[in-house]
Amino acid sequence: MASRVSKWPFVQQHGAAVIALGRVDATYPELLPSEQPLTDGTVRARTREILAGRNLARLAMTALGQEPREVLTAENGSPKWPDGLCGSISHSSHFAVAALAPLTELESIGIDIDDGRPLESSLGDVVTANELSALQVRWPTATRDVLGRIAFSAKEAIYKCQAPVTGNVGLGFLDIELAVDGSGHLVAMPTTAGELAHHRMRVIMLQIQGVNLLLALLPRTRLGK
Ligand SMILES: CC(C)(COP(=O)(O)OP(=O)(O)OC[C@H]1O[C@@H](n2cnc3c(N)ncnc32)[C@H](O)[C@@H]1OP(=O)(O)O)[C@@H](O)C(=O)NCCC(=O)NCCS
Repeated sequence: MASRVSKWPFVQQHGAAVIALGRVDATYPELLPSEQPLTDGTVRARTREILAGRNLARLAMTALGQEPREVLTAENGSPKWPDGLCGSISHSSHFAVAALAPLTELESIGIDIDDGRPLESSLGDVVTANELSALQVRWPTATRDVLGRIAFSAKEAIYKCQAPVTGNVGLGFLDIELAVDGSGHLVAMPTTAGELAHHRMRVIMLQIQGVNLLLALLPRTRLGK
């Protein structure tokens, strides 16, 4: 059953990935019985997020030609995807989004909604002057505030993208440097050694129905491996 809000949700293909965006306050089918414990003890707003995220993930599975299946949660909070798929979920107060792709195409994927909240004094904890300069080249008319938000959201997407592959839960915002490659693509370069050093993630900014989304993609070919 689709959401009752007209025109929503939106399902869009982006390369190998399918992105399903919906409102959190829409009417969705119930969670699958195995997922229902995920909402135990949660407040109403969180229950809605979980319901929206799982249903949007199933819409994306269907769009990928897969059976819609359960999405449970691992101990570190990351979603547990059905065999053969990688994926990621994000919510803001109004929207939820799920991005999924076949593991034959991508090793991992991460998504984040840029909810428009300014970073203010925490800007320097999230992004360096070098990164702001690189982003300014990519988005020449954007203000420093907007660039800071793009960097923040890109790094949240990167965190979600790398976590299932590296198991790295302690990755800090400055452990990743955002750069623009020779083709004008936004890429994430690890500033530290370790498992992540073998990976180069691409980051794409998308706008669907006015909602800004940052999508991090880890291709199947790893640098140095
Ligand atoms: C986990 C984290 C990325 C979630 O981001 P958020 O902006 O708070 O929340 P969002 O709504 O965008 O995303 C929530 C979803 O993230 C996913 N998530 C949670 N923990 C995760 C993890 N360890 N790995 C991958 N995905 C995770 C879940 O799917 C969750 O939704 P669900 O619980 O309904 O399934 C964030 O809280 C966090 O801990 N960040 C660590 C610091 C960081 O980002 N560093 C950047 C390093 S480059």
